[in-house]
Amino acid sequence: MRIDASRPLMVFGGPYSNVRALAAMRAEAERRGIAAANTICTGDVVAYCAEPEETVDAIRDWGCLVVSGNCETQLAGDAADCGCGFEDGTACNVLAKDWYSYARTRVSAPSRAWMASLPPNVDFDCAGLRVHVLHGGARANNRFVFASDTAAIDEELDLARADVVVAGHAGLPFIAQRPGGVWFNPGVIGMPANDGTVDVWYGQIERAGRGVRLSTHRLVYDHHGAASAMRRAAYADPYADALESGLWPSLDVLPPAERAATAKRLAPLALSL
Ligand SMILES: [Fe+2]
Repeated sequence: MRIDASRPLMVFGGPYSNVRALAAMRAEAERRGIAAANTICTGDVVAYCAEPEETVDAIRDWGCLVVSGNCETQLAGDAADCGCGFEDGTACNVLAKDWYSYARTRVSAPSRAWMASLPPNVDFDCAGLRVHVLHGGARANNRFVFASDTAAIDEELDLARADVVVAGHAGLPFIAQRPGGVWFNPGVIGMPANDGTVDVWYGQIERAGRGVRLSTHRLVYDHHGAASAMRRAAYADPYADALESGLWPSLDVLPPAERAATAKRLAPLALSL
């Protein structure tokens, strides 16, 4: 498969074992006429929600490009934890023990082998701009990079040496234009964005005039179905509640600015380069 950057690309993060959100993402790509070869997932196919193996099957059936997330790295190696780097005693760490052990027992050997085969990065050129897709950070795939942490963005842009970095892992959509390039997190589809709405987020990269346009978009999906599946599986209820409230069960990983934005409805973003 070859990326055709003369045509629109779709980018999205974190399906997080949310097979219904992934189905909605695929339907949206097909509605927009975007081929699987022009669709890139930034990793963490498996995480919080109830259907890890089903989600791996669905994304492999779709055939889009997938960059390895920390969850893929850890599950491929049958590691004992999710590798998010949550601090001991934090709510994220306590909750991660629950969902990771659930996923670990449900992901098949062929799915682990597929995870082990995933690339850590995807690179392509779009209108003369170098675009580099990664999961967390350039050196560590579990680094959280948020919009308010401009020092981290600048450091990562310096390491990545690209005009546009498309990243996942952090779970919140944003576009940051900095002196060293643009950091574009299109958001994740497996969990809402802590903005008090149940929608999830993805991004688009497309040619516009002589340049490139980056944008973020809401995605509506069957969030009640996803929450019900989690409750039937009887685990990780705080994340099932999050699917229906649009609010994360823990804000441990968020910097102060992102914490302060809790329950504030996000607006779609766009930047032309
Ligand atoms: Fe991640």
